[in-house]
Amino acid sequence: MSETPVWASETFWKKTAVWVTAGSFIILVVLTFDSLKQTSAGTKRVPAYSVINNKIDYRYDEALKKFMPIIGDEQLLFGKKHSEAEAEKLVDLGKKTTQAKNCMNCHTLLGNGAYYAPDLTKAWLDQGWVSVEMREEMMLKFLMDPENNARTFGSSRKMPNLGITEPEAKAIIAFLKWMSSIDTNGFPYNFTSIEEED
Ligand code: HEC
Repeated sequence: MSETPVWASETFWKKTAVWVTAGSFIILVVLTFDSLKQTSAGTKRVPAYSVINNKIDYRYDEALKKFMPIIGDEQLLFGKKHSEAEAEKLVDLGKKTTQAKNCMNCHTLLGNGAYYAPDLTKAWLDQGWVSVEMREEMMLKFLMDPENNARTFGSSRKMPNLGITEPEAKAIIAFLKWMSSIDTNGFPYNFTSIEEED
């Protein structure tokens, strides 16, 4: 009678299953901590919240072959210099408002959401805001009353009035400004920033 080879025995496969599961679990834990490290504010790809005090641009990097955010000199948001704590509070309110008002039903933020309306990841840099001088006021007006300040880029789609208050709108703008400074590996593509010549 021939003996059962090791690879055909039940205990071998039971042990293998235990080791593979345990190994995968450890890899998952390591990757989770790594992702948290790479995506928290104040790291290489994700600037600290106080970046809202600076000028942000988005340019094609020939060497890297992708669009990269460029953080420039001071360019205050609504004329106010925010400390790191103040900036964090403001961006946090903006983020929570976008969640509470379900902006992702129509828009995409950092790859999550819908494509009914423009991608908001780099919306701060959109040429639709006409000029850097007009941008903040235009965004504020638009968010608080999109129906009467619609821009509808050649489409008939309009953003509904979501009852956003002025403090909420300012916080959303801070959130959008901060988000535009994140290195998103060139995403979204083919984006021309507000200060770039066509
Ligand atoms: C029912 C769909 C819908 C929802 C929900 C919605 N939007 Fe919009 N949004 C649109 C449409 C459509 C446009 C483009 C229309 C226009 O420009 O007039 C737009 C345009 C915008 C723009 C200008 C985009 C750019 O690139 O310049 C911003 C900023 C914006 N929305 C922010 C928000 C925020 C913040 C929320 C959540 C508080 C939100 N939207 C929720 C439909 C929506």
